[in-house]
This record gives sequence, structure tokens and C-alpha cells, in this order.
Amino acid sequence: MKLQIINGPNLNLLGTRETKVYGNMTFDEYFKILKNKYSNLDLHIFQSNVEGEIINKIHEVGFEYDGIILNAAAYTHTSVGIADSVRSINTPVIEVHISNTISREDYRHVSYIGPHAKGIIMGFGLKSYDLAVESFISND
Ligand code: DQA
Repeated sequence: MKLQIINGPNLNLLGTRETKVYGNMTFDEYFKILKNKYSNLDLHIFQSNVEGEIINKIHEVGFEYDGIILNAAAYTHTSVGIADSVRSINTPVIEVHISNTISREDYRHVSYIGPHAKGIIMGFGLKSYDLAVESFISND
């Protein structure tokens, strides 16, 4: 099974960024653990701070891969372009968030992506990504 994780803006700073909200682990460290745990899967990671690059990646994998795990970060709450790309592809997308965005500021309560996603997992720390992988596996 081929799965693509896509991380949006500022998630390259995980481990140092707002550690009370996002924890102390870098995504590289976490991705190593995830790859070991799911060594039978073909797992890929892409991170960008640029909206168009995220859209290009969704187009690139969205007709070929079995699943996309998308944390569009702040773009979740603003980007019609990313939402349109999610609704334009064949590959199912699971939206993930490290924090529980519903418990935070009002502007984080809106997701442009959610209506086009297969499901949303949020609030479990980095484990949200694990749970998204699990949901693709159990759906197989
Ligand atoms: C986030 C939540 C977003 O509101 C925020 O802009 C992020 C990270 C999360 O994973 O909790 O950058 O997507």
C-alpha cells in the first residue's frame, strides 16, 4: 500500500515550534518510527510551506497512491485551492491535525478540506498520523 503524508506550513518546525501544543519531537524523528512500525507499507513524506507546491504534490500522487494523509496546517482554514485539489483527485484523503483545532481559536474551527476528506483525525498529537495509517489499513 502506497501512502503519502503531506505536511503544510510551519510543520517543518515541529520539535521547536510551540512545544506545549505540538510536542518536542521533530517530524523526521516521528517519521522514522512510523516507517519502522509500518515497514510493510510504502510510506512517503512531503512538507512544504508553499500552497502551490502542496497542490502540485496532491495532483502528482492523487491518481496513483492508495491514500493521502494531509495536514495542511494553517492552509486548512484558508485554502480553497487545496480544498479544490482534494476534490479533484481519485485517491482518498484523510485530514489530520496534531492539536484539537476545535478546542482552539475560532478561526481554526473551519476546515475547507474536511467536506472533501474521507475523514478527519485530530487532537492525538503525532499519533493522529498513526491513526490515519491504521484507518487506511483497516479499510483494505
Ligand atoms: C495544525 C492546526 C492548525 O490550526 C495550525 O495552523 C497548524 C497545525 C495541527 O496539526 O494541529 O499549523 O494543523
